[in-house]
Amino acid sequence: MQIAGLLESLETPAFVYDEATVRQLLEYAQPIRSRSDCQVLYSLKPLSLPGLLEFMAPHLDGFAISSLFEARLARPALECCETGPGTLHLTTPGIRPNDVAELGRLCDYISFNSVGQWNRHRDALEGKVSCGLRVNPGLSFLDDERYDPCRPNSKLGVPLEEIAVLAAGGGNPFDGLEGLLVHTNCDSNDFTQLEETVDRLHTEVSGLLRRVSWINLGGGYLFENSPDLSPLYRAAEFLQSNYGLGVIIEPGAAFVRSAGYIVATVLDIFTNSARNIAVLDTTVNHMPEVFEYDFEPDVVGHDDKGKWEYTLAGCTCLAGDLFGEYRFHQPLEVGDKVVFCNAGAYTMTKAHTFNGVNLPAIYALNEARTLELKQRSSYADYAARWGAHAASTV
Ligand SMILES: Cc1ncc(COP(=O)(O)O)c(C=O)c1O
Repeated sequence: MQIAGLLESLETPAFVYDEATVRQLLEYAQPIRSRSDCQVLYSLKPLSLPGLLEFMAPHLDGFAISSLFEARLARPALECCETGPGTLHLTTPGIRPNDVAELGRLCDYISFNSVGQWNRHRDALEGKVSCGLRVNPGLSFLDDERYDPCRPNSKLGVPLEEIAVLAAGGGNPFDGLEGLLVHTNCDSNDFTQLEETVDRLHTEVSGLLRRVSWINLGGGYLFENSPDLSPLYRAAEFLQSNYGLGVIIEPGAAFVRSAGYIVATVLDIFTNSARNIAVLDTTVNHMPEVFEYDFEPDVVGHDDKGKWEYTLAGCTCLAGDLFGEYRFHQPLEVGDKVVFCNAGAYTMTKAHTFNGVNLPAIYALNEARTLELKQRSSYADYAARWGAHAASTV
């Protein structure tokens, strides 16, 4: 693979994101924006590097964020965008009272996660941001409840039954509300599920859809394997023509997953009961979803038909710090590079330094095919987390 050669010279562990791939992924946004008049945001959760945000901003309508810190990172990237600033959209189950004033200054849209959250903060925010409500259509598309925003008794958004109860209760419970947000999926490329979500809203809460002016359909969908986007276009068109709504989507992983790599070096190789174990200078703690969700990440050069088989292991004390079993056509040697691909999403934003293993240095592979160092964590950063005043800044 072409990229492997480029990464050979890197000091490891390293995280590399390929701007050319991000640009290709961003091209999916263009027909969605122009053909169906949807606003397309990037949700920062999977990867939130300021340089990347600046790179993405001109191709999108803004960013979706989950916290004050993400808001502070994202706002400058919007402000320096030559095509004019896009908008900043927040939703989170946890708004801290102390953050509200600054969130009001930084954000353009806030979708409250509960009626209580809205009532608590609306006075401080109405007039400053466009206020929306996250609703939960209760449609589960996922087998693993840990990913499923619509799992039973979900903490994410107001159930449609509760909307109906509020509406029936009289008064004007939705006065001041300008929008709705739904987010029902994870890693799906079946956009019919998005259409199903919209159908459910139309059936259950059409009164509320008529009251508001925008709807954010969330993220959770991927553009990999050329999915059929026509259900998205149909859903957007339906909401626009029946309810006059501005339609927004906020994918995250879709724009970055295939653009990211973790590059590691083999530190040791030995056998245990005839199995070859290669210890790397990275760990599953640099890609925590590997451990959390028990999947084997893709590795450049792995081939099921390869003659040489290894357990690729992380370098921490955790027995289960293992990436999986991989086969190569050449034997691995100490000092060789191992490159994990499709690692752009939820890798660096979840990485941590268990056992004192440093975080990967971050590089952008720019469109001129040059690697630019963006961030290198040091002992000082590690020590500062634990309140130590580092004598050295190595
Ligand atoms: C409200 C909301 N929007 C967008 C996203 C981005 O999801 P993904 O990265 O799967 O596209 C998430 C992910 O949890 C989310 O909760």
